This record gives sequence, structure tokens and C-alpha cells, in this order.
Amino acid sequence: MSVIFDKNSKSFKLDTPGTSYVLEIIDGDYLVHRYYGARIPDTDLTYMHFKTNISSFFPNSPETNIPLGTQLLEYPTHGIGDFRASAVMIRGADGTATTDIRYVSHRIYKGKPVLEGLPSTYADENEAETLEIDAIDNHTGALVTLVYTAFAKHDAITKSVRVKNTSDKPFSLERIFSGCLDMPSSEYDLIHLWGHWAKERTPERTRLHHGKQSIESIRVSSGHQHNPFIALVSPNADEDMGDAYGFNLVYSSSFLIEAEVDSFGATRVLAGINPTDFSWCVNPGETFTAPELVMVYSDKGIGEMSRTFHRLYTNNLCRRQWKGIKRPILVNNWEGTYFDFDDEKLISIAKDAAELGIEMLVLDDGWFGTNRNNDDCDLGDWFVNEKKIRCGIKELARRIRELGLKFGLWFEPEMISPISKLYDELPDWCLHVDGRKCSPARRQYVLDYSRADVRDYIIDCMSKIIDEAELDYIKWDFNRNMTELGSALLTPAQQKELSHRYVLGVYEVMQRLLDKYPTLLIEGCSGGGGRFDAGMLYYAPQIWTSDDTDAIERIDIQYGTSFVYPASAMSAHLSASPNHQTRRATSFKTRGIVAMGGNFGYELDLNQLTDDEKEAVKKQISDYNKYQKLVQGGDLYRLISPFKNRLHSAWEYVSPDKSEALLTFVVMRREIYSRYYLVKLRGLDPEKLYRSSDDGRVYSGALLMNAGVNLCKDYTDGDSLIIHFTEVK
Ligand code: DGJ
Repeated sequence: MSVIFDKNSKSFKLDTPGTSYVLEIIDGDYLVHRYYGARIPDTDLTYMHFKTNISSFFPNSPETNIPLGTQLLEYPTHGIGDFRASAVMIRGADGTATTDIRYVSHRIYKGKPVLEGLPSTYADENEAETLEIDAIDNHTGALVTLVYTAFAKHDAITKSVRVKNTSDKPFSLERIFSGCLDMPSSEYDLIHLWGHWAKERTPERTRLHHGKQSIESIRVSSGHQHNPFIALVSPNADEDMGDAYGFNLVYSSSFLIEAEVDSFGATRVLAGINPTDFSWCVNPGETFTAPELVMVYSDKGIGEMSRTFHRLYTNNLCRRQWKGIKRPILVNNWEGTYFDFDDEKLISIAKDAAELGIEMLVLDDGWFGTNRNNDDCDLGDWFVNEKKIRCGIKELARRIRELGLKFGLWFEPEMISPISKLYDELPDWCLHVDGRKCSPARRQYVLDYSRADVRDYIIDCMSKIIDEAELDYIKWDFNRNMTELGSALLTPAQQKELSHRYVLGVYEVMQRLLDKYPTLLIEGCSGGGGRFDAGMLYYAPQIWTSDDTDAIERIDIQYGTSFVYPASAMSAHLSASPNHQTRRATSFKTRGIVAMGGNFGYELDLNQLTDDEKEAVKKQISDYNKYQKLVQGGDLYRLISPFKNRLHSAWEYVSPDKSEALLTFVVMRREIYSRYYLVKLRGLDPEKLYRSSDDGRVYSGALLMNAGVNLCKDYTDGDSLIIHFTEVK
């Protein structure tokens, strides 16, 4: 990794092991973009200057002959002749919004700065180098600092932006994107991950076209509908070849990621806070920080792009305490009992769990308030319901711990039920607009996390329970999106800050809890995977991937999720068959094999298991303990896409030293005749020899990758197998 400034060409160059990124200061002190792609030795790319025979409809900059609207710009501003979407628009005290930033100075240093109040990737001095470029808008006194970090071991570059008000008058940020990338081509396909509840992160690939194509959220959450991620890939790109540029926001509130193709064939990518219903007032002396954008480039296809994200997030985003650490195998009572449990039932589940080798009991929704026997009430009343937990939470936790298990609890800390003690006492603590009725969702409203008193109250309530039950884990759920966005404490002008202030409040509460309880494991959740983003992953190193626990549906969901997020980020549980969401019956074995692609656990009533199933659980736990490091620390190869082949799917994990691999194969629907199932492995060392756990034979890596593994068997629907390949020396 290195970051350099070449004085002669006035160019900056950031290198990662396999990529380079070049930008340049041109006449008038504008910043233009020159290159992002495979690593190059050159720094001076001034020859790439774009000249065209343009008309008066592309105004020149007043001080140079450069029509900015024709150039690849590094951080385009509003109102000075570039009519594409701008990265920043600042409305000054005079009411105008023309924004014109010019280079002032820069710094290059080792390491990576912390983003104040925001989640971000982290790196020490040996892991990354950072470039900060200051550019000023003299009219408003806005000092814009573009922050770039290049990683030493990953082909990833992060961007973020700070804006300081150096004047004596306030101004408003009406657009403030985390990063822009102008690319001199539009020959790309756009991949994004769409979805809905119980069907999250479905990859969709379309050709770029002229004009704007975007994904966004205005839900004050990243949402089920569009993950804050896009990739631009060359039309020939597949898992193993072609160009793949990935963009992922480390942010959990309303976002916009947009690709705009202009009339010269260039593409502008913008990613950051959604400007809809947003503006932020920056008073004299104050600084605003935009969330982080992670950019990954691979010239070896979409698979390598994903593996880069996985390595980066495993090593430089996941909380240090949990980095590379196996998470407890848990049993969660939700699909086992729903709201219908008491302390004795929980202890009987815990007894079975302990006998089977499960490591933690998680008590899901329904343990608190006075009448939480369905989802009608009591959110906000974070005291234990002693009608259900008659022995009290402390004693329940003691009895669970006595069995050798850890103990975790479900919370939905951002919500308030209109039927609750908290709402009776403090109705204006929820997001609301005076004079308008609140729209309920799941019969609940949202607490106003922009308020310090709300945040303090929640930390206080949760701390009491965490202390009393000595919790090892909490599941942090979030089951609705925002409407009637208004806060009782913000001024009219500040109401447009609420969607960002809200998430800053959520991040603050999570950080304060983790400062207080450093070993606490937080699992993120939002009606399944409705807030599965890198912002949440910073605090919650694992996230409940989806409320759809059907193994066959989960293949799609985990496949799509793996475009960006590593196996260690996904929680996956074996649940009952027929499945509660789809009514599909799937074998115990396949349910286990699919759930082992994430943080493994069970979500059913263990008391109902047959003896055979109990034996199967013991075997699964032993397999998971054997393979977890390979799955979560290895490289993922998506071999057969369940979206391209709706009959069967295969994926593989390879250890970093290529000494072992794990192949998983699932037949979603058998065909009438058996057929060739020759699955070609990837990522092995062709020179090495590997023994297959399936037939005990020894194969060369070259053979396994070129001829493939013979998986021809007489399958039934939902059959599956895993084969472990270990190096023979
Ligand atoms: C939604 C979650 O995704 C489920 O796992 C469960 O915790 C329920 N909420 C409880 O209300």
C-alpha cells in the first residue's frame, strides 16, 4: 500500500496490492478523477485530459477554459456547470446553493482515522495509509475534507468526507455524498441486492443505460428492499473473470446509491446519505462527517470482489473482541415457543440444549412487560414479566448458567408500543408530528433516538437487565420503518436532520453499551435481515439473516448476502420441518448443512426432537466445530448459483493456505433421471493432492478444478452433502 503525491503532475496515487486510484489537481485548483482499476506503475495521467467539441450548453469555469460538465470530477459540486448529479450542495446564509470547492492542501499519514460518532472500518499504521485533501468553497467558508484510505492487504479503498464551517455564518448541507466515482465508460452491468421481508438480498443484474439508475432507502433504515451496495461489472464478468467494482456504505439510515450515464459515455457513481428530506445545518466552527463508503475493485470477477469484502469486514470492521472468534452455538426459543413459554419450559429446553452440546440459550420476544403474549404491547417496558418468568430473570439466568450454558435476551430497544407504561407516561418520546396521527406498524411506534433523554433511559433499562442476568448476548431487533418523521425537541429547521440524527443516536447507544460491557455479543436483527448493513456489523458482528428459516429459501438468501458480507456476519438456524414460513419439509441433514454457512444455531423446541434427531444434533455440532474456522476464515467460492440453476446449488470454502476445502451441494429439486453432477472446485492449489471425505480417494487439485468432483448419486428433493478435502503430503 502506498499513497503518493507527484508534485510535477499534481497527482495523487493510492495503491493497494492489486489496484490503483489516481486523481489530479488541474488548473483552477479543481480536483479531477483519472483512474481506478488494476494496479499501474504510473502516477502522471495528465494525458487523459478529456477534450471535446462542446456547445455553449457546457459552460466554462470562469477562470479556465474547462467545461466542468465534460470532465471526470473527483467530488462534483452543484451549480457551476456540471449538470450531472452533484456530490455536495451547500446552501449559504444568502439562500443560494452554488458550491465551488478548490484544492487548498493535503496530508498523507499512516493508519486510518476514526469517524466521529459513526461506524467505519479500522486499521493500524501497518494496515493502511490515508490521504486527506482540503478544498474550500470561499463563498460559504465550507472547508471540505476528502478522506481516502488505501489498505495494505486488501484491494479496498474507503472514502468519507468532513465539512467544516470556517465562516461566521451558518450554512446547510443539502447533499453530502460519502464518495463519487466518475468512470470513463458506461460499458457495465449494475448488480444490486433487492428484496423484501423473508426474501432479502436477491442479486439482480441489468445493463447500465443513459440517465440515472439508483437504489435507495427513505425508511431511516437500510431496509429489506435494497441493500446499500451496488457493483458495476464488465458485461463479460462472472464469478471468476472480468472487472467488478463494488460500492458498499457503512451506514444504516436512509441512503442513495446512484449510477448516472452521461452523453459522453461516462458513468458517475454517488453513494451516501439520501438527500430526500435531508439537510444539515453547520454552524460556525462545527464540522459534519459523512458516513464511510467502501470501494473494492477486482479484475478477477465478482467472486474475488466478494472475497475482498469478506476479508476486509472480517479483519477490519468486525469488533476486535470477536474478530476470528467462534460465536456460541445457540438455541433461540422464538420458532420453538413464540410467546408461549414460562421459566420451566425454558429450563427444559436449556437442559436438552446442554446435553446436546449447544452453548447458549437465547430467550426471544415476550419476556418483558405485563402482557406481552403477542406483539400488541409493552415495547419500552423493559422489566421482566414475572407471570412468565416466575423465578425472576436473575434466577433463570443462574439456572441456565448452572447447566453450562451462556444466556442471551431479545430486545427491541428502538420501539415503543402505544399500549405500554412508557407510552402512557411519555407519549412524546416517539417520533411523531404534532397534529397528525402516527401510523402504527406491528402495532408499534418508534422511539426518538435523536433525544439524549431517550437514549439515556434505554441504556439504563438495558443495563439493569444485563447486570441482573449477567447477559452474554443480546438480540437487537427492529421491526418497522419510520413514518411521521418528527421530533418534539428539534427546531423546525432541524427536522430535516432527523433521519441522520436518529441513526447517530442508535450508534451512540450501541457504542455506550459495548464500552460498558466489552464482551457482550450483540446480534443485529430487523424482522430478519432488514438492516443487514456494514454500519450495524461494526457493533453487531452477526446479524439474523432472514426470518425465512426454510433451508431451500435460505440458499438464495445466503448466496445473495455473500456478495458483500462474510459467513461470520450471517446468523443461520436449523428450524422445524415443515418450515413455519414456507410449509416445506426438508431433511434434518440439509437444514443443518445450510445453517452451517453462517453462525450456527437452532430455533425449534428441542423437547420435541426424536432420539435420532438428537443424535443428528450432536453430529452437526461436532461437524460445525470442525468446519467453522474453514467456513468463517476461508475463501468462499460460489460454484453453482441457485438463481441460474433452480435445481441444485453448490458452494465451497478454501482455507487461506489451500490445505483444505469444504464443498456443500444441495439438490433443491431432483430430476427424473440421474444426471452428471460434476462440480468443478475452485481456489485449490493445482499441484497439491487432496483426500475426499466422501470416497477416501486422493485427487490432484488440478483434477478437482478441471474435471470436477463426481457427485452423481440418486438424490431426492432437498438432499445435500458436504465433502471435506484435506491435503495429503
Ligand atoms: C422478528 C425477528 O426477526 C424474529 O427472529 C423474532 O425475534 C421476532 N421479531 C420477535 O418478535
